[in-house]
Amino acid sequence: MHVGIDALGVAVPSSYIDLEVLAKARGVDPQKYLNGLGTSRMGVAPLDEDTVTLAARAASMALKSAQVAPDEIGLLVVGTETAVDHSKPVSSFVQGLLGIGTRCRVFETKHACYGGTAALMMALDWIRAGSARGRKALIVCSDIARYGLGTAGEPTQGAGAVALVVSENPRLLELDPSRTGQYASDVHDFWRPLYSKDAFVDGHYSVQCYLDAIAGAYRHFKELEPGVTANDFAALAYHVPYGKMAKKAHRQLRELEQDPAPDASFEAQVAASLVLPAQVGNIYTGSLYLALTSLLATSARVLDGQRVGLFSYGSGSCAEFFAGTVVPGAQARVQALGLGALLDARRALSIDEYEAVMRAREAADVKPVEANAADGFRFLGVESHKRTYVGPRA
Ligand code: CAA
Repeated sequence: MHVGIDALGVAVPSSYIDLEVLAKARGVDPQKYLNGLGTSRMGVAPLDEDTVTLAARAASMALKSAQVAPDEIGLLVVGTETAVDHSKPVSSFVQGLLGIGTRCRVFETKHACYGGTAALMMALDWIRAGSARGRKALIVCSDIARYGLGTAGEPTQGAGAVALVVSENPRLLELDPSRTGQYASDVHDFWRPLYSKDAFVDGHYSVQCYLDAIAGAYRHFKELEPGVTANDFAALAYHVPYGKMAKKAHRQLRELEQDPAPDASFEAQVAASLVLPAQVGNIYTGSLYLALTSLLATSARVLDGQRVGLFSYGSGSCAEFFAGTVVPGAQARVQALGLGALLDARRALSIDEYEAVMRAREAADVKPVEANAADGFRFLGVESHKRTYVGPRA
């Protein structure tokens, strides 16, 4: 049975902060953010956009692209580490906003940035096991990354969502969930206590934990597929907290195979996957899938029938290295989504506007906000302790 990603959708907030502007405001050489980290713009969600509205927009785009009706979805999972409620899952809000039917398994997954991959792997197994009975899965990765003003993590924030329609006979990427390399370790590299809206991170340690994880997961993958090397992949997409991290990951992977020039293949194998992430920043669970989208949307090479390596990392930690085969026509399908125009339509915030949004977010959960999102999925505020949203169906 062929299973994998049939269609995808992407949502980014309607505004962003330019990292050159942020660097100047923080008294930092802009080249540190632009080249040292490899990010040029960071998505900033205004108060009427949140993890739910981003997830709903991405999911709506994915369903339209797949031409799948809401009642064909038998499994709806949102992977997120920035949920909006301790009990009610983001996926239930998405179900309501999109009109997904009642005969559907609906829940949320959490393991830092790995939560979406956990859901994807489970969806692939759900289909292979026969439990789907012809229905499709909708897996949504949605997050708003926040470290707080003036912190070392500040230039590695971002916001966005990627939704994946997962099915038999997929039209984008075939995946084999029976041969994935895993690595999990109890570490305290990045976390967000229940009382905090901002994440805490032991930054340089988190980089080392990520590198340990890719080494462990890739070794495991190579045991499951003896003889495979990095040269067997036309491209590699990594979890991208910032572009330079993907470069470090690629070097690590190549060094494991004693490549004497570990960076030489970076441009050919990795660069195309970083074009969109450099414009959006870290979107946590969706980050790897934005990198995959970027590869399919921007690579100048025809990838039909080619193998792509994928690496997902969630702090704490759990990581997975797996591989997919690009289905002929996938690049044209992703290019047709018009993601370049979506990014260009965003509004640049001044540093004062950005800081005002960041501060106001502390209270945004309890106050109704002025809704102004253009596409109809909007957070309206909290009434009687219930979050309220509007969407095109309301
Ligand atoms: N011009 C060009 N490059 C410059 C420069 C300049 N003027 N100044 C510094 N640089 C380079 C540095 O050499 C460095 O590059 P290398 O890593 O190749 O050496 C890079 O810019 C960053 O510089 P620093 O390491 O000095 O930066 P920092 O101490 O301020 O912190 C960080 C960087 C640790 C990534 C911090 O931004 C952070 O904590 N971010 C959040 C944590 C994170 O993203 N971790 C990633 C792994 S964990 C993960 O992936 C899960 C997740 O999504 C969170």
